[in-house]
Amino acid sequence: MSNEKKRMTTASGAPVGDNQNMITAGERGPALIQDVHFLEKMAHFDRERVPERVVHAKGAGAHGVFEVTNDEISKYTKADFLNEKGKQTPMFIRFSTVAGELGSADTVRDPRGFAIKFYTQEGNYDMVGNNTPIFFVRDAIKFPDFIHTQKRNPKTNLKDKNAVWDFWSQSPESLHQVTYLHGDRGIPATFRHMNGYGSHTYKWVNKDGEPVWIKYHFIADQGVKGLDPDLADKLAGENPDYHTEDLYNAIDKGDYPSWTLYVQIMPYEDSKDYKWDPFDVTKTWSHKDYPLIEVGKMTLNRNPENYFAEVEQAALSPANFVPGIEASPDKMLQGRLFSYSDTQRYRIGVNHQQLPINRPINDANTSNYQFDGQMRYDNGSRSVSYEPNRYETEPKEDPDSKINPFEVYGQADSVAYSQKDHYTQPGDLYRLMSTDEKDRLVQNIVDHMSQVDYDDIKLRQIEHFYKADPELGERIAAGLELKVPENVK
Ligand code: HEM
Repeated sequence: MSNEKKRMTTASGAPVGDNQNMITAGERGPALIQDVHFLEKMAHFDRERVPERVVHAKGAGAHGVFEVTNDEISKYTKADFLNEKGKQTPMFIRFSTVAGELGSADTVRDPRGFAIKFYTQEGNYDMVGNNTPIFFVRDAIKFPDFIHTQKRNPKTNLKDKNAVWDFWSQSPESLHQVTYLHGDRGIPATFRHMNGYGSHTYKWVNKDGEPVWIKYHFIADQGVKGLDPDLADKLAGENPDYHTEDLYNAIDKGDYPSWTLYVQIMPYEDSKDYKWDPFDVTKTWSHKDYPLIEVGKMTLNRNPENYFAEVEQAALSPANFVPGIEASPDKMLQGRLFSYSDTQRYRIGVNHQQLPINRPINDANTSNYQFDGQMRYDNGSRSVSYEPNRYETEPKEDPDSKINPFEVYGQADSVAYSQKDHYTQPGDLYRLMSTDEKDRLVQNIVDHMSQVDYDDIKLRQIEHFYKADPELGERIAAGLELKVPENVK
């Protein structure tokens, strides 16, 4: 580093004469508008924040590398970054909670975001998942309502347990995720001690154009650990950034966390008659039917240098696919394909893909005919802003990268999923738990539901627990000291 003194300048490069005292009319006089350095400094400060994410506002990020460990996987997908054992791809991950604001506590009971950007040679591939293999609702049109129940009441600006359980009790498809969330995995010990899941079903397509359906499982090599709820409450007060700090410190001291990526692969035709609708994000696929197949390993080895630039401005979107990986008809996923880039154009700007954290390493930004817009600086000296055109050197579409064509059928309508069994899978989840786990699950649900003011909400929800497993319903009703009418059992 040079010892030469660095001169402070304004944003336009002019030297700053005084950064401690405003220019005033005399010692006590009012400030002068000609103090352009002060005006610029204050105006810039006034604009330091971008809006926080509407969900998943609190988070921590890290850089790392993904390495393919299984040669076989290229049989199923032509995705360039997965086509060879040993191939390494740089990646970035952001972990988050869902409901809290930017400064909220890390150790709350909430799903955790698990959002990865792979910087592949064929553009960025974003896998925007959670630490749960399922979700609360299965149609995107319900998502804003669901999130409103998790956020603050618009009148009181308080968290509203009545809203939470009113919504859940009237959306029985949420039962699986509600059960999962109140178990030990609902508050992870650290971000390093939780698995990540794509949750949705995605389509993989190989180089011969053959599709399969897949689900992603990132299994934590550190093991999965939960946090004791009492300790979590204590930490929320004492160190609201507990998980953020743990991740930063682990990477800082070279204790790099890693995850092994597996996929479940379902033959394309199985989707027609599998016992569960494979595009219903409230359901899992049996591991017996579709065992985990190893793909590779992700290792986090570098902390961000600048939180705002690399984490706050990161724009992760399920719409960022690469050839070989495509959407499934999952109605939640379909809604997400619109929502993320839409919010990012508002939250960060129409050219957010140009920021270093979002910029693809193959420089796709300069290989299309999207021009101008706020903060655009790389239109370069190109004069061709349209396509088709006569210029061989200008970007042309690549028919090999077209989507895998698929059949659609049926009448256009607002159609509900036909499968209404919301109970077997959460019941199985309960029955699989050890006695201790069951005790903790019941206690967590009782603690949470006891904050609800209305018995009709509690009874409606208890009915769902009964249907999942009568013992679970019985225990929760007893914990809430509620007499349950016979028709509810
Ligand atoms: C963040 C919408 C369902 C995982 C977000 C954001 C929006 C959003 C608007 C903020 C993005 C940003 O500002 O950059 C939706 C909608 C959904 C949905 C409309 C359903 C229709 C899901 C599901 C998952 C998920 C099912 C997990 C499987 C995440 C994660 C983030 C996020 C991890 C944080 C990304 C980051 O770290 O920047 N979601 N979401 N979301 N969502 Fe969703």
